[in-house]
Amino acid sequence: MRVLLTAGPTYEPLDPVRFLGNRSTGKMGYALAEAFAATGAAVTLVSGPTALPSPSNPLITTVHVETAQQMYEAAALATPLADVWVFAAAVADYRPATVAAEKIKKAGETLTLELVKNVDIAATLGQSKRAEQFAVGFALETTNELAHAQDKLRRKNFDLVVLNSLRDAGAGFGHDTNKVTVLDRAGEVLNFELQAKTELARTLVSLILTRFSAVYA
Ligand code: CTP
Repeated sequence: MRVLLTAGPTYEPLDPVRFLGNRSTGKMGYALAEAFAATGAAVTLVSGPTALPSPSNPLITTVHVETAQQMYEAAALATPLADVWVFAAAVADYRPATVAAEKIKKAGETLTLELVKNVDIAATLGQSKRAEQFAVGFALETTNELAHAQDKLRRKNFDLVVLNSLRDAGAGFGHDTNKVTVLDRAGEVLNFELQAKTELARTLVSLILTRFSAVYA
């Protein structure tokens, strides 16, 4: 069993000292990498910048990247050989249109940045997913959670989508706990209690492996 996982935030440079980023810590993705490796799977963990140490399990190969484009290129190398793809990264949807060669100096009272769209890693790779491969995405929503998550599942060719709601206390970025709902293509909705991300990772890995083997064994 080979697994490709994306985790953490992306940093999109603005000049040599600044970037646009987000509050993802990578904890959920790293916990999933450990939980997959504990089942004997070989994991390629494509990680944006995080404060977490690289996993020491020899079954996990960590590839460090910064930008969405770099994350896409690293993930695209791994997906053709991976049985299961899990997109847990919080990828910046946009990046600065230009990266200044020198530090941007303070000038007027306002500063307008022009942003251009980044590649959608999951959606782009999803187009080349083969019938025997299984893809899992995450969705972070604040409104119409189930409808948006179902839409992402179809648009990005996921087999399962793990929905985080920022409305739930103790869930999402930075916390050691998470509360999620998992949706499948048939419209089944599974609710999980608030639990430690390490515990939830084990639960999700066993669900993913059960679904994967039920469909493709
Ligand atoms: N994702 C990705 N590449 C992107 C954006 C998102 O691979 N450029 C993946 C995430 O890793 C996650 C899923 O797509 O598995 C959904 O991410 P999310 O940020 O919730 O969705 P977006 O498509 O960015 O939609 P929106 O920001 O409009 O909610």
